Amino acid sequence: MSNLAELQLTKRGELRHFLTPEGLNRIMLERILDTADSFVVVGNQEVKKVPLLRGRTVVNLFFENSTRTRSTFELAAQRLSADVLTLDIKTSAASKGESLLDTLQNLRAMHSDMFVVRHSDSGAAHFIAEQVTPDVAIINAGDGRHAHPTQAMLDMLTIRRHKGSFEPLSVAIVGDILHSRVARDQIHALKTLGCTDIRLVAPHTLMPYAIESMGVTTHSSMDSGINNVDVVIMLRLQTERMASAFLPSAGEYFRLYGLTKERLSQAKPNAIVMHPGPINRGIEIESAVADGPQSMILNQVGYGIALRMAVMSMAMSGQMQQRQTEAKQASSLTGELHK
Ligand code: NCD
Repeated sequence: MSNLAELQLTKRGELRHFLTPEGLNRIMLERILDTADSFVVVGNQEVKKVPLLRGRTVVNLFFENSTRTRSTFELAAQRLSADVLTLDIKTSAASKGESLLDTLQNLRAMHSDMFVVRHSDSGAAHFIAEQVTPDVAIINAGDGRHAHPTQAMLDMLTIRRHKGSFEPLSVAIVGDILHSRVARDQIHALKTLGCTDIRLVAPHTLMPYAIESMGVTTHSSMDSGINNVDVVIMLRLQTERMASAFLPSAGEYFRLYGLTKERLSQAKPNAIVMHPGPINRGIEIESAVADGPQSMILNQVGYGIALRMAVMSMAMSGQMQQRQTEAKQASSLTGELHK
């Protein structure tokens, strides 16, 4: 098993933390999607609750701003009947200089069972999973430019529900690949799920060096990049992560890479358009496309709740099994010692 698989899975191969799809196999990713599919139904019921996390405490720790991800995690935990605490980091001890570890240990002392962590530092969620919390489940809600596994998997859920199997699909990911934690995890997930034509479309300044080694093709022109694809995933320009100017201007970017109705006509006629949000209308996508019939942007938000419910319930049950196994091992060891 790879290190990433070892960290994220119990000894019996159940999900225990969810930090990135990297290292997880196809069976596990499909299990996450199947579980999420079953939760989509819950969102359509009059009473939108299931008791899977009753009596459990989930703490959403958002060290970085978020609207969609934070609110859908909160709703997902509530629909699973958990007690949910969302920490406003700006008014918390973190802004008084308390270290990440101290903050977590204090929360752990309150008997939290799961932390959902968003942090501007790449690797923050991994660090927490490795260091401090052997009996707490950690869900990565986005770390720096590194990973954003629940976003990538809700995107996979959207694709699978609208396009079926991944094998025959051509998928274009367009925009600021360099600063995007979403793109990396999308590539890992798409590859593991069997997609073989993954095209990255971006100006040279926003394309990571040697990214082809991940098994993708790179395109600096929209025309070749989205020609005949089934899925177009647009990404936001992550200006908050750009240390200097990577582009001449927003207008120039839209002229070359903006998704207009006319450009979209080069993809397959039934192609779907996705975007993790927040969208910048007139910079990476035209309103006629964002609000048009091929757009899945609002469907993605709804699927996000179901996907997050799936991951939270799976990680919690993995944690419980792990604890039971460890408790059994400890009691049989004590039995041996008393013989
Ligand atoms: C993404 C993120 O935060 O990385 N958005 C999200 O989770 N809804 C992408 C982005 O900010 O552009």
